[in-house]
Amino acid sequence: MAPSSSYTLKDVVAYAKAYGFVYPSSEIYDGVSALYDYGPNGTELKNNIRKYWWYAMTRMHPNIVGIDTSILMHPTVWKASGHKDAFNDPLIDNKDSKKRYRADTLVEDYISKIEGKIDKEIRKAKKRFGADFDEDKYRAESSVVQDYASRSCAITERLGRLLEVEDLAGIKSLIDELEIACPVSGTKNWTEVRQFNLMFETQLGSTSEGGKTYLRPETAQGIFVNFLNVQKSQRCAIPFGIAQMGKSFRNEIIARQFTFRMKEFEQMEMQFFVRPGAEMKWFEYWKDLRMAWHRSLGLKASKYRWTDHINLAHYANAASDIEFDFPFGFKELEGIHSRTDFDLKSHERHAKKKMHYFDPETKTSYIPYVIETSMGLDRMCLAVLSDGLRREQLPDGSERAYFRVHPALAPYKVSVFPLLKKPELQEKALKIYQNLQWDHKAFYDDKDSIGKRYRRSDIIGTPMCVTVDFDTTDSVTVRHRDTMTQDVVSISKLSRYISERTSWEPPKFS
Ligand code: GAP
Repeated sequence: MAPSSSYTLKDVVAYAKAYGFVYPSSEIYDGVSALYDYGPNGTELKNNIRKYWWYAMTRMHPNIVGIDTSILMHPTVWKASGHKDAFNDPLIDNKDSKKRYRADTLVEDYISKIEGKIDKEIRKAKKRFGADFDEDKYRAESSVVQDYASRSCAITERLGRLLEVEDLAGIKSLIDELEIACPVSGTKNWTEVRQFNLMFETQLGSTSEGGKTYLRPETAQGIFVNFLNVQKSQRCAIPFGIAQMGKSFRNEIIARQFTFRMKEFEQMEMQFFVRPGAEMKWFEYWKDLRMAWHRSLGLKASKYRWTDHINLAHYANAASDIEFDFPFGFKELEGIHSRTDFDLKSHERHAKKKMHYFDPETKTSYIPYVIETSMGLDRMCLAVLSDGLRREQLPDGSERAYFRVHPALAPYKVSVFPLLKKPELQEKALKIYQNLQWDHKAFYDDKDSIGKRYRRSDIIGTPMCVTVDFDTTDSVTVRHRDTMTQDVVSISKLSRYISERTSWEPPKFS
């Protein structure tokens, strides 16, 4: 039977906890909503994703350098960036259930339902017309599909306009008009919509000494405020980029969908500084390259799509999201933003320090424009986890579950087993394990039957198992996770054999 990957979010959450990937934070105290801890396998997975993002930025591009800036910054940074005044979510409460929602998300969920109805129509028609079905033609000609599509489009556009001008009363009217009910109480008894700032406040030093600041809601500002330090100390010439990864914090009220929306999460961001006027060329360049990076990690093309922003953030003149098909549908995984010169200009004004760059080629001085690529590491982990889980029926009728993750991302690269728990086999297997361990994250296991050990290795995504048996003198058997096929490999070539099968190939892109 072909491997199936029909896992729900609930399955992914249970898997992540049972196999040491992600645990609820402070679980013995019943947890805290939207906070999670990574277990040993999750930490390895996360570190591997981090590594290949960092390599893709700082090694594939001689003109991109990496930095690591502080989480706490001068409070004026957040005034200049616009976060203090504009980093808000429109919230609404249901008076009966006492549940709080993002008002725009309620409308977006309503739109998703309409789009679900379109999909249902298409599925029905596909069944009816069989192999001759032409989906594009049907979409264009079916009046039912057309009605749904224009309704969804009209609501999306109206919501976009309302959000752009922060018309909270207008959003409330839209919710009333669409007769959106609370998913918990089922009633339409809503409060007014109001803005809620997502930044966490904290205190720098004693009240008299420092005053209020915020935990950073994005890593990008650490890059902007260091723009000239980096440019001068590294003698960077435009175009060049600065990459950073690290924790960001947002007081997300709507905590749903596991690690998709967290209060404390990690971002991997890169700001690429370009000449004013060249930003659209570089925007397209980075869109292509970032998608190529995702695809190089073995995730299927059909799991990705692009969505252009309708209502642009205060700093952007173009923005597209890479969306991933999570178990709860397509949602943002990474954003590519053309941030104009907004941030540097604003810091120049607030800090009263010049943020200009002198371009030796054009002999002019200007504030560069910026293309940003911004990805959530936790969302990428969730994408990899939810995409990789597989179960299949084996010829003997038993079921096998495995985690089909790109070998370069797998928490362990190889498991080493003695076939039986016999000292002569254990000794040989331990020696092979110890020799491999320095170059490859390896795991030694001699408990239970070999079949059970294979299953334990498969379920955490280990691409290969090395088995030492009584025939082992110069060679071992290597079993592969996805195909369960076996190769005989000489011990002297084993490390190279594993490297060749667990390395990451940078995206092919010119
Ligand atoms: N510097 C631009 C910026 O922060 P964003 O779209 O707000 O843009 C970028 O965030 C990425 O950070 C998102 O695409 C997402 O992957 C991740 N992200 C944002 N909020 C998150 C949250 N609450 N939990 C997990 N990841 C989040």
